[in-house]
Amino acid sequence: MAPQPLLAAVEVRRQFGALAALDGVDLAIGPGEAVGIVGPNGAGKTTLLNVLAGTIAPSSGTVAFRGTDITRAAASRRARLGIGRAHQVPRPFGGMTVFENCFVSASTGGGLRRRAAYERCLEVLTLCDLDDVADRRADTLGLLGRKRLELARALATNPVLLLLDEIGAGLTDAEAEALVVMINELHSAGIAIIWIEHIVHVLVQVVSRLICMDAGRVIADGEPRAVMSDARVVDAYLGTAAA
Ligand SMILES: Nc1ncnc2c1ncn2[C@@H]1O[C@H](COP(=O)(O)OP(=O)(O)OP(=O)(O)O)[C@@H](O)[C@H]1O
Ligand SMILES: [Mg+2]
Repeated sequence: MAPQPLLAAVEVRRQFGALAALDGVDLAIGPGEAVGIVGPNGAGKTTLLNVLAGTIAPSSGTVAFRGTDITRAAASRRARLGIGRAHQVPRPFGGMTVFENCFVSASTGGGLRRRAAYERCLEVLTLCDLDDVADRRADTLGLLGRKRLELARALATNPVLLLLDEIGAGLTDAEAEALVVMINELHSAGIAIIWIEHIVHVLVQVVSRLICMDAGRVIADGEPRAVMSDARVVDAYLGTAAA
């Protein structure tokens, strides 16, 4: 018998009016696996992450986590079950400090009690290189700081599966390298990762499996080099460039 996947999405569809943002997506991730998702703008990548994290409901299809059906579970319940999520556009509470932002995630999101949440935040801020700016207001951070805080807030809930949406976008090469080191550490510690990123050479430093989406479907899934040279993937990107 095949081992139970950590996360399994089956025949997931999401309609926005006439648009099928997700048009029958199947996806299974093993415990501790690191998977990258690529695809042209509008392919449905963020929508898929939203459905997995519980911030939007699928029109049909199912999502299971550790064998439990979570299709209708709220995002807060999923966070407590172990799904952490970093958004494409960082959304810190600007008026709160870096530490306070993290603390809210750990306590409200992760369901940790005060002392445990405090300790988790110290750990996570060190891990994300934010300990020096823990007392700064979140709205005074630059892009790299905001990306790190987004990662820290996702980690504060103590996830076994981390969903990352373009956390490297807009960073310099050196900043992206530092992020890769950080995410590789998390992966080595056993956290499963689903990472959407347009910068494939950054992604493949962490993931050994790549999924390409186009027009709401998975069009390729496998070893990164094979996926990037797949004719359907090349066509999807050329189609976007031509448009
Ligand atoms: N809340 C919404 N209401 C209506 N349409 C939406 C909504 N969210 C996404 N869409 C549409 O669904 C499609 C998929 O969007 P999605 O954000 O998932 O793409 P993406 O692959 O993440 O793109 P990008 O690489 O630009 O981030 C797009 O056509 C988008 O305009
Ligand atoms: Mg997106």
